[in-house]
This record gives sequence, structure tokens and C-alpha cells, in this order.
Amino acid sequence: MPNETLTIIDNRTEQTYSIPISRGTIRAMDLRQIKTGPEDFGLMTYDPAFMNTASCQSAITYLDGDKGILRYRGYPIEQLAEHCTFLEVAYLLLHGELPTTEELENWSCEVMHHAMTHENVKKFMDGFHHDAHPMGVLISTVAALSTFYPDARNIGDPKCRRKQIIRLIGKMPTLAAYAYRHRLGLPYVYPDPDLGYTQNYMNMLWRRTEPKYAANPVLARALEVLFILHADHEQNCSTSAMRAVGSSQADPFATAAAAIAALSGPLHGGANEEVLRMLDEIGSKDRIPAFVEQVKYGKRKLMGFGHRVYKNYDPRARIIKRVAEEVFEVTGRNPKIDIALDLERIALSDEYFIKRKLYPNVDFYSGIIYQAMGFTPDQFTVLFGIPRTVGWLAQWQEMLEDPEQKIARPRQIYTGQDKRDFVPITLRGQRELAGV
Ligand code: ACO
Repeated sequence: MPNETLTIIDNRTEQTYSIPISRGTIRAMDLRQIKTGPEDFGLMTYDPAFMNTASCQSAITYLDGDKGILRYRGYPIEQLAEHCTFLEVAYLLLHGELPTTEELENWSCEVMHHAMTHENVKKFMDGFHHDAHPMGVLISTVAALSTFYPDARNIGDPKCRRKQIIRLIGKMPTLAAYAYRHRLGLPYVYPDPDLGYTQNYMNMLWRRTEPKYAANPVLARALEVLFILHADHEQNCSTSAMRAVGSSQADPFATAAAAIAALSGPLHGGANEEVLRMLDEIGSKDRIPAFVEQVKYGKRKLMGFGHRVYKNYDPRARIIKRVAEEVFEVTGRNPKIDIALDLERIALSDEYFIKRKLYPNVDFYSGIIYQAMGFTPDQFTVLFGIPRTVGWLAQWQEMLEDPEQKIARPRQIYTGQDKRDFVPITLRGQRELAGV
């Protein structure tokens, strides 16, 4: 049995410390004992952007970025995408186990039962300008749900918590579809609980005058797979926002609104929208080399490439590439896929990308499918947010049940002025008079 400790010698004091190592990690608080004297605060770690710091212990998603492995609750993402429905995966993420037939039936009924929103939510959404970005609409409307469900603040009661979780998962497609139709000036379509989760979403998006909407099964399945792939991704930016805001015991709607805000950024979920804009700008295959040169000279970023954790092919991008071909069988080929495939090929054989281990991430191909299905680029990040809500809520629940978690409150290294005395306004700018 190896000695699972780290020996530290503080050269300032010549003191030696033995720090326990557990799961390849030391506890930052164990460093606090390392001091130069009684007045010393103790040693801290400095880790901007959390490059090498675990903020929690989690049993939800396993990710090995070097090997390109992603598992939910132990199940490989490839198997879940092949065999499951989205709500089955949602159940798995939240409960830890795959549901039985009966459990899945009850779970689906419960979620679909909560797809309807209060009529005033519709009125609230009507207040947005016609060209409001759907992510802005979603952030605000999800936050507004906390005013419709004041019981949600009772986060310590597991029964009440469960209700809010089901409410939000049920309502996300409805809010997203309303945001979509509001933009087009179309009347809102109420949810149809007889349909599955994605079919109902498609119904609320695209139903016109037909009495019952029937989604194309290939497209509905493609959306289901995309939802599964986006459902969780451990401690990414938006999930960390969910955990940080939730740690203050804010209600889950206000908390999820913060996570959606984090997702909207172009370096995170907003990248899928940016990829489409980039492909539009490139326009044709012959312009790819010039674009790649710009990226290499630091003038541009290759959107949809690179990842903080994956230093190998993102397994989700591999699945999405396959789904794209299935979708194109129905919709016709989106010509952007050929530009994207060529861009990937050129980038992956270039020293700049090889050296930095930059591979396509989940956002590189997803937008091309969404566009072929009829979504406009501003909807792409919304399509990410609907399924990721499940991951956020699973992580939020885990955080609340973790006795080690407290309000998130990082330390800082202060680099500002030392103590100085107040200068009356009449003396400011006269440095000598002010004694500076
Ligand atoms: N295009 C060009 N160069 C890149 C890219 C890119 N997309 N991504 C990283 N690099 C370069 C950096 O310039 C840096 O080069 P340097 O060492 O010469 O300075 C090196 O690769 C390391 O990159 P970092 O920025 O340090 O990596 P970090 O982990 O901080 O960033 C991120 C990860 C934000 C995803 C980054 O790769 C990026 O901006 N990608 C494009 C946006 C994107 O696709 N985001 C979606 C991510 S997936 C998701 O959130 C769902």
C-alpha cells in the first residue's frame, strides 16, 4: 500500500508537513496550517479559472478528457444515445439509476403534466421586443418563475425540491417554444402531453393549423439524441454557476436563470451560434486555408474547437456527426457540413491545433443539424439549455445534499493600495497638498 501523503517542506521556516492525498487530490484547507508565524493567515492556493481545483465531489458524470470518455452515472454516452429516450436519461441523472418501465411511465407523466405554464407567463413574455434574443428571454422568464412558485424557496424539503425540478424540466421546452413563436409573431401553441418530450417541443414550435402535430420520427429521434448528449457535462461554467448561486440557498428558478446566463456566453453554450456565423463567413471551402491562417495568427478563434477538459476528440461531436447524416436524409444536405468537415480535416492536420490538442467540441456540428431542421442560429443555445437544465438540477440537488458544501465563497489575493487616509475633494488632484 503506497503512502498516500504529500510531504511539504516550507523553506521559509524549514518546517515539514505531511498532507493526506485522497483520489489524487489534496485538500486546500490542509495547506492553511503552513504558516510563517502566529500572525500569518496560512498558505492558500491560487487558481484563476479553476484550472486545477475540484470544487465538489460528484457521482453524476464521469469525464476523461485525455481519453475522450463521457459517462452519465457510469453508462457510456454512446450507449445512452443509442438506446434511451431523453426523459429516461433525465431520470438516470437525477435518481442515479435507469428507470423501470413503470418508473419511466410515471416520470414522463409527471414531467409532461408540468409542461403548461401560468397564463401570466405568456403575458410576461409578450412584453419582450420582437427581436429579443431568445437566451435573454429564457434567462428572464425562468427567473420570473420564482415569483409564480414562491414555495420553491423551500429548498430544504426534498419533496418540494422534487416538485420544482419536475416543474422546470417540464416547462423549459414550453418557454423555449414561446420565445421562438414570439419572435415570429405566431400564436403560442399549448403543450400536448400525449406527445413525448421532444415531439411536444416540436409541436409547440411548428404546429400551424393541423389538429394534431405529428413530428417526423427521424427528426424527433435526432433531437432526442442531441438532448441526451447535452444533458450534463460535470463542472462546466454554467453548472458551476448553478452550484455557486444555489449554495446561497436561492430558489431553483433564480438559480437556473444564473446558469442559463452563463451558458449564453460565446465561449460556452453560445459557441454553437458562433460556429454557424463563422461557417457563413467562410462561405466556401477554398476560403478555409486563409481563415485557418487568421486563427493561427491569433486574429480569430476557431469556434466549436477546443475544450478546457477534452484534449482528445469530444465523444459527443462524433455522435453528432453521425446524427447529422441521418437528419440530412430527411431535410436535404446542409452545405455547411462540407465546409465544417473540411475545416476539421485541415485543422486536425495543422501543427497549431495538434500541438494545443484542439479538437471539435459538441458545438461544432450541432448547429448545422439544428439549421437543417429549421432552427435559426439564435435558437441554438436555447436547444442546449433545455436538456442541460436536467444536469443543472441534478448537480444542484447533489450540492444541497452534500454535507461538505457551504456557500461558495472563493478567496482572493489582494493587490490594491495599502491603507491610506481620506483626501477631501478640494485637495484631490493636488498631490503635494494631499501629502501623496
Ligand atoms: N481557436 C484557436 N485557438 C484556440 C482555440 C480555438 N477555438 N481554443 C484554444 N485555443 C488556443 C489558445 O489560444 C491557447 O493558445 P496559446 O497556448 O498559444 O495561448 C491554447 O489553445 C489553450 O487555450 P486556452 O484558451 O488556454 O484554453 P481554455 O481551456 O481556457 O479554453 C475554450 C477552452 C474556452 C473552450 C477555448 O478552447 C475556446 O475559446 N474555444 C472556442 C469556443 C468554443 O467552442 N466554446 C465551446 C466549448 S464547449 C462548451 O462549452 C459546450
